Amino acid sequence: MPKYTVTGGAGFIGSTIAKSLLSRGDQVTVIDDLSSGYASNLEQIPDAEVIEASVLDVGAVEKAVAGSDTVFHLAASVGNKRSIDDPISDASTNLLGTINVLEAARSGGVRKIVVSSSAGIFGELKTLPIDESHQLEPDSPYGVSKLAAEKISLAYSKLYDIEAIALRYFNVYGPNQRFDAYGNVIPIFVFKLLNGEPITIFGDGEQTRDFVSVHDVVQANLAASPSIGVSGAFNIASGTRISINRLVAMLDELIPLDCEIKSGDPRPGDVRDSLGDISKARELLRFNPQVALEDGLPEYVAWAQEEIKRT
Ligand SMILES: NC(=O)c1ccc[n+]([C@@H]2O[C@H](COP(=O)([O-])OP(=O)(O)OC[C@H]3O[C@@H](n4cnc5c(N)ncnc54)[C@H](O)[C@@H]3O)[C@@H](O)[C@H]2O)c1
Repeated sequence: MPKYTVTGGAGFIGSTIAKSLLSRGDQVTVIDDLSSGYASNLEQIPDAEVIEASVLDVGAVEKAVAGSDTVFHLAASVGNKRSIDDPISDASTNLLGTINVLEAARSGGVRKIVVSSSAGIFGELKTLPIDESHQLEPDSPYGVSKLAAEKISLAYSKLYDIEAIALRYFNVYGPNQRFDAYGNVIPIFVFKLLNGEPITIFGDGEQTRDFVSVHDVVQANLAASPSIGVSGAFNIASGTRISINRLVAMLDELIPLDCEIKSGDPRPGDVRDSLGDISKARELLRFNPQVALEDGLPEYVAWAQEEIKRT
């Protein structure tokens, strides 16, 4: 039975990847320090071996990674705001933690590492859609640390006998994405609306985002793992974009919007527009996003309603 390691497997995307691997009958080891992950996500993957430790703990990382075919590396300090609040923690988890995982993968006989990167590495967009050759000028410590993590993973694939794929996610959403102060716009809006609290649109609301379903992100990870002889960076997005105002209008059809909608100043570190060109992933990974926002948003709202009842 093939073994896989998921770092950050108690998190939103990592737990969903682990669930998919387990449902195929694979063996899964998760390493997570639960800093932004949830025990309730781990309850959904009872068959996974769980190592509750930081990726900064070299011994724990070695134990988690040894003998795996592929390491899906998702553990990270996530988000622009968190990195602006605490740039040291951001850099140590995202860069040093990644080096620990790479070193353990190298010594542990791992064939491939699939690193979760971010569209945050591009910075303000010069062209739309963005392809992988777009300039890399991140606007936040998070974008810088994710870029460094991606680059060092690709450097390891040139230096050593290990393949590396960096998946540059755009705005991911879906079940298991919980609401917190550092959350993305969809969980923030949905949880606030369901709780009857006001929501805030930063700027004029005409800024656009490329929202990709977590199910499609899982598909990209599972496709990246077996690809032989493929290393490099790939955009993982829906290839479509909508404005925040349009997102609010879509939510209005799903949840009664009888609360106040406030407006706030644009947030530092946030880009104006976002749209991924996914042709490279389509061609080399056979990535083919399946979930349109029209379908993924109702699924997410239904999950959030259950989650509110549960907690
Ligand atoms: N959600 C998105 O829209 C998005 C977009 C681009 C990139 N990403 C990347 O995808 C990955 C997963 O993000 P997510 O949205 O699932 O976030 P998440 O916060 O739910 O998951 C991150 C997980 O990493 C764990 N973690 C943090 N620091 C750790 C440490 N030092 N040691 C061990 N575990 C640690 C957390 O506890 C958490 O379970 C991250 O690498 C993130 O940068 C996410």
